[in-house]
Amino acid sequence: MFVLGIETSCDETAAAVVSDAAPLIRSNVVFSQLAEHRPYGGIVPEVAARAHLTHLDPVIERALVEAGIGFDDLDAVAATGGPGLIGGVIVGVTEAKAIALARGLPFIAVNHLEGHALSARLVAPVEFPFLLLLVSGGHCQLQIVEGIGRYHRLGTTIDDAAGEAFDKGAKLLGLGYPGGPAIERAAATGEAKRVPLPRPMAGRAGCNFSFSGLKTALRVAVEKRGGLLSVTDQADLAASLQDSIVASLIDRTEQATTLFRDRYPAGTTLVVAGGVAANAALRRKLTDLAANAGLDFVAPPLALCTDNGAMIAWAGLERLKAGLVDALDFAPRPRWPLDPNAVPVRGAGIKA
Ligand code: KG4
Ligand code: ZN
Repeated sequence: MFVLGIETSCDETAAAVVSDAAPLIRSNVVFSQLAEHRPYGGIVPEVAARAHLTHLDPVIERALVEAGIGFDDLDAVAATGGPGLIGGVIVGVTEAKAIALARGLPFIAVNHLEGHALSARLVAPVEFPFLLLLVSGGHCQLQIVEGIGRYHRLGTTIDDAAGEAFDKGAKLLGLGYPGGPAIERAAATGEAKRVPLPRPMAGRAGCNFSFSGLKTALRVAVEKRGGLLSVTDQADLAASLQDSIVASLIDRTEQATTLFRDRYPAGTTLVVAGGVAANAALRRKLTDLAANAGLDFVAPPLALCTDNGAMIAWAGLERLKAGLVDALDFAPRPRWPLDPNAVPVRGAGIKA
């Protein structure tokens, strides 16, 4: 079985082919639009949508060539149907529908967050239910993944996502975009203790996240230095920011392991996904946390943590096997919560 997956919800134009027989990933082509957005210091939705239009056809072609198959060999076409920047989502969904219609194939609209959630199952035999920490530029959530399309949200952010905290922090420190890798690099030579920053939500009940106060604290620290930072200041502040974000994520995840255990005493696994999972300090601390909680820990390789087509193709394949396909009148969704029954949190906006 072969499924083509298309991802266009943010600033990566991506396509991949996965199979239900090893090797599961037959190709995974990602075109990063970084260069197109860098001059603006962040992602510009209209620029992203136009870039997806330009790059998607050649990216799909390469995905098929690298997989060694043609359109005739496909069993289904999956695309991110949301949530995300709607212009880009429309480009990917329309392309997938066109292929499905022309080739008489099933079309599957994949929730981008479900793509991240199920990506661990591409690399390890992770059984449902499992505990998921999803940390990306647009999302910061703790979910119990009970099955395909079945989620129980334990926590979400009430303001910024973890990746946003890295990105906005890097901007304040003059470290450029994207912020996560820049902060991690600068932090390597920094001394976090020199400029202590708050650890948002640490010790608070529940599993929600909040990063806007930390951003303010960082701005104040920068202003205290007259806005002009030495390389040492930059490194120390980056180290402190990374420590605070990671400490907050760990504190919240610890709370979640208890709730997960209460609900599913036989549950065995903690999974991390999303671009922030690329952070080595976070991975180290999550490894320790899982060991202390008696859970297995699965962190997909970096190429599967940041946005990619393989995770969308895989979620599509899992859905196809479960008989979950979509009609061609599926409407792209800018918002699409994994757990529609979750209690809304104040200020969560599209992050819910
Ligand atoms: O999952 P992703 O590729 O796209 C979204 O769906 O948002 O995540 C991108 C986010 C960005 O905010 C980026 O700064 C962050 O992941 N990121 C990192 C690292 N690499 C990427 N954050 C911390 N440390 C990293 N090494
Ligand atoms: Zn993502």
